[in-house]
Formats: sequence, C-alpha cells, structure tokens
Amino acid sequence: MTHAFKVAVLGASGLVGRTMLQILEQRRFPVSELVPLASPRSAGRKVTFAGREYTVKAVSKEAFEGVDLALFSAGGGPSRQWAPVAAAAGALVVDNSSAFRMDPDVPLCVPEVNLEQARRPPKGIVANPNCSTIQLLVALAPLHREIPIRRIVVSSYQAVSGAGSRASECLVAQRRALAADEVPEPGAIGAVLEGDLLMQWTPDPVTGYQEEELKLIHESRKILGMPELMVSPTCVRVPVDTGHAEAVCVEFEAPMTPERARALLKAAPGVEVIDDLPAGVYPKPSMAAGRDPVLVGRIREDLGLAGGICLYVVADNLRKGAALNAIQIAESLLLS
Ligand SMILES: NC(=O)c1ccc[n+]([C@@H]2O[C@H](COP(=O)([O-])OP(=O)(O)OC[C@H]3O[C@@H](n4cnc5c(N)ncnc54)[C@H](OP(=O)(O)O)[C@@H]3O)[C@@H](O)[C@H]2O)c1
Repeated sequence: MTHAFKVAVLGASGLVGRTMLQILEQRRFPVSELVPLASPRSAGRKVTFAGREYTVKAVSKEAFEGVDLALFSAGGGPSRQWAPVAAAAGALVVDNSSAFRMDPDVPLCVPEVNLEQARRPPKGIVANPNCSTIQLLVALAPLHREIPIRRIVVSSYQAVSGAGSRASECLVAQRRALAADEVPEPGAIGAVLEGDLLMQWTPDPVTGYQEEELKLIHESRKILGMPELMVSPTCVRVPVDTGHAEAVCVEFEAPMTPERARALLKAAPGVEVIDDLPAGVYPKPSMAAGRDPVLVGRIREDLGLAGGICLYVVADNLRKGAALNAIQIAESLLLS
C-alpha cells in the first residue's frame, strides 16, 4: 500500500489554498489527514476535500504536529513566522510566498526546470517561484538547454486573481458598478482596473522597476543558475480573471530557428504548443484557466534581432503559477 501523508494547507480559505485542495484531490495525492489552516478570521469555516468536510483552524504551533507536508499560501509574513515552525516539526514545507525565494539555503524550484536543486532542502523549505516566473521558465528552459539564453525581454499581462481573493472580488464589484452606471470603487485593487491596464505593484525607488518585475529578474537568475542573465521585464495587470500572458523575446548565444524552437517546445514537459495565427489560433487566458499546461504560441523569428525568437506564453496563475507547481514539487520529493 502507498504511504499516505498528513498534509497541512496554510491559506486554505484563499484562492491558491482552495486550488491546492482541488489539485491534491484531482491528482489523488495520498492524504491520510488534511489540516486546513488560515488566520483566525476564517477559523471555523468549512472546506470540502475528497468528499469530506473539514473545519479550517487558526494556524498555531500545535497544528503542525505530525504533519508530513505543509503547503503554504498565506503571504510572506505568515510564511516567515510559521514555515520554520512547520519544518522543525518535521514537515516538508513548500512555500508560495516570496519570503524565502532568494534565501541561498532554500531551493527555488520549477520541477520541469531544476528539480535536482530541490532535493534535500537544507532548511526543510522549498520555495515556489512567482507565477510569472514559473510559466516563463517552463517555456524557455527547453530552448535554453539546446542553446544557452543570453537575454530575455518579457512583457506580462497578468490576471487579477494573481493579487488574491480580495482583488478578484473587487474587479467583480467594479464591473457591477460600471454596468449599473455607477462610479466604481478602487477597493482592494487600489484603482479601477475594469476597462484599463494598471501597474500597481510596489515600486522600487532605486531602479524604477516594480517589485513584480524584479522578481522576474532575480528568480530567473537563481533558477537557471545564471547570476548575470539579462532580463528586461515590464509587468501589467489586465482586467482578466485568471490566466497570465507574457510576450517574450529571447536572445541566444547562437542563432535559434523558429522551427527548432517549435520542435523543442512540442516535446517539452508541461508545455502545449497552440500556434496557428492565420487560423486565429493562439494561446488565450480563457484557454489556460482551469488547465495545467503552459500554452505557447506565436513562435517566430525576432525580426528585431538576428537569431532571436519571440513567443507568447499563457498559463493559469493559480494552478501552474502556484498550487500545481507546489504540489508537483511535493510529489517529486515525497512520492518518487
Ligand atoms: N494568486 C496567485 O495567482 C498567486 C500566484 C503565486 C503565488 N501566490 C502567493 O500565494 C499566497 C496566497 O495568495 P492568494 O492569491 O491565495 O491570496 P488570498 O486569496 O488573499 O488568500 C490568502 C490566504 O492566506 C490566509 N492568511 C492571510 N493572513 C494570514 C495570517 N496572518 N495567518 C494565517 N493565514 C493568513 C488567508 O486566511 P483568511 O481567510 O483567514 O484571511 C487566506 O487563506 C501569497 O503569498 C501570494 O503571493 C499567489
């Protein structure tokens, strides 16, 4: 009989936490006992997992007793406070927040790209990269293995669910207000997103970049083990519910052809090539939402740079961008 694991999910009432519960069930992860955790605000709420109802508890030290796997998706503060506690209790912690991503003793893992780095994590913690980094590297790693990448230029079009449940609810309220000819409230998003494009991530006064853009730079460098990799990102929030898109241009150490790139991507794990522009076929957030693969299309020569490639990368930010990637890490480390 397969060994089954006691699994805690911190942030079980949130968008990523709820997606984790769905994916654990869909993939039949062997769960002997589920411990859904959140803040005291959600304590007492019910969640359903594998046909059983569980009560969400407020996170505490005792909650991690006997836990084998702790999936964290409650933000940086709770991760900093509770991940060391869960790891000391013997759990493998897979953390979705940015708290430990740049810690040299914490592997930052996309299983299709650098799984080996995640084996035997020194602190018992493995970090899940940011959603925009995960889908970018799932698409670029197969090309990078063939010809090393020199520079990445990436513009993102990021869905509102990437900012959590309050932002998603806020966009719904903004749509409702506009439909009723009322003035929409900025609410949790901080501005009116419906009908517009926003750049609301924390600005870095030194570089002029948004925090989200710096994550793309630093996380890509750490995962690929290339501290000097040139990454030029611009991140934009769009009024889409779920599914981030990225327009990417890549420069390689030697010329890459679109034909070779397409063949490599067709054979790549976790990638689905959707690429027939004359027939109107290209990846869309609506095609990615609720699905696992990273969709890649618009694979073409970079007319602005000889030997370069441009492509368009779309994925479900809640699944591959967060919950699925975390569970794939757990499966790789605990089940194989
Ligand atoms: N959304 C995405 O696409 C995405 C992608 C990659 C990474 N992430 C990361 O995943 C994490 C969760 O994101 P989300 O979108 O699921 O956010 P969310 O919908 O706002 O959910 C946040 C969850 O964290 C819990 N929480 C908040 N403060 C807490 C505290 N002090 N102690 C214990 N639990 C606390 C909340 O519990 P209550 O219900 O009790 O408030 C809720 O369950 C964040 O770190 C985010 O950066 C998100």
